[in-house]
Amino acid sequence: MKQVDVAVIGTGWCGGIRAETLAKSALVDRLHICEIKPERLAEVKALTNPVTATLDYQEIVANPDIQVVYISTTPEGSHYPIARDCLKAGKHVLLEKPIALELAEADDLIAISRAKGVKFTIGYSQRFNPKIAYAKKSISEGKLGKVVNVMVSRHLSRTLGKKIANRVKLSPAAMESTHDLDFVFWLLGTKPAKVYSQGAYGYMKDLNGSYDCMWSTITMEDGTLVVVGGGWNLPPSYPNYCGTWIEITGTEGALILDDTSRDNWLNTVADGTQYPMSTMPGEHVDHMFAGQMGPETIHFLESVLLDRDPMVAPEHARMVMETYLAADISAETGDPVTLPLSNLALAKLADMKAAQ
Ligand SMILES: NC(=O)c1ccc[n+]([C@@H]2O[C@H](COP(=O)([O-])OP(=O)(O)OC[C@H]3O[C@@H](n4cnc5c(N)ncnc54)[C@H](O)[C@@H]3O)[C@@H](O)[C@H]2O)c1
Repeated sequence: MKQVDVAVIGTGWCGGIRAETLAKSALVDRLHICEIKPERLAEVKALTNPVTATLDYQEIVANPDIQVVYISTTPEGSHYPIARDCLKAGKHVLLEKPIALELAEADDLIAISRAKGVKFTIGYSQRFNPKIAYAKKSISEGKLGKVVNVMVSRHLSRTLGKKIANRVKLSPAAMESTHDLDFVFWLLGTKPAKVYSQGAYGYMKDLNGSYDCMWSTITMEDGTLVVVGGGWNLPPSYPNYCGTWIEITGTEGALILDDTSRDNWLNTVADGTQYPMSTMPGEHVDHMFAGQMGPETIHFLESVLLDRDPMVAPEHARMVMETYLAADISAETGDPVTLPLSNLALAKLADMKAAQ
């Protein structure tokens, strides 16, 4: 049986989920973990029994036994240098979204992965949500006819909004709608041509100047209309609650997906109403994984072992990135932005970053 040495760099919330999933897999020969917070490193070490546990990711890079690396670090500015070093060392990499902070960094990572002949993917998790997989199947089988419109409305608890705001100033389009742009473009199999976006201020403004909510209208090359809303100001509820509503209409049918997780209701005297298993990555529940990040983690490992393309090509992630950057520009200027981004749009983006 083929097995590999695997590492997880950054074992916070998501990296912890990945490490726990890998520790249980028969495909993993030996697990290695890396985390800069010693107390969290010790916690995940106790949970996953890795062969090595280090505070310095360069030890992972330098270890020739390690073939596959999952990078789950924050702040998001750490994604590029760590992914670059791992790819340069010839390791297969799953990197959490976003792929990078700058388009040039994304281009660099893609070029290195292609030059090295290693697999490189971005962890968006949502393509492994059974409801979204069902949408893909329905569209591919022609059940809906030609898709005319897709609408995704996603709202997160402000606890998570606040966690994100404390580390980085990225918009709800970049941090949240990025998941939806990824799977919607995958569902449709076409490219985005034009983006119009608006944002509204509320709770988050005083924390880091971010919008609470952004709604983006994207016209695809074939005229299909996509509307994606992302917000992160729901009152604190089940740690990191996420509620999503999806509407897909076509010439021959419609598919409505309620992914708000209100069907799992836990009510306790101590904590009141909770909706377990309602976070974006999902969670381990004893012998099961309830959600998408577990299957996604194993999918990447199998892609490496079976030499198959992983679900998300990095070029697709780059297209997603360009789209949320267009949304950021549009929300700032009030004008629609065409894709690919023009030099003028890129200059505007540079001005916006400089003003931050
Ligand atoms: N796909 C999804 O459903 C989903 C959901 C939430 C977050 N995310 C993404 O996953 C990533 C991680 O998010 P999170 O909520 O788990 O963050 P987190 O802050 O809980 O964990 C990140 C960890 O990385 C560690 N770290 C930072 N620099 C490091 C370094 N140089 N070496 C080793 N460890 C380092 C931090 O100490 C921290 O423990 C983010 O990029 C986020 O955008 C994805």
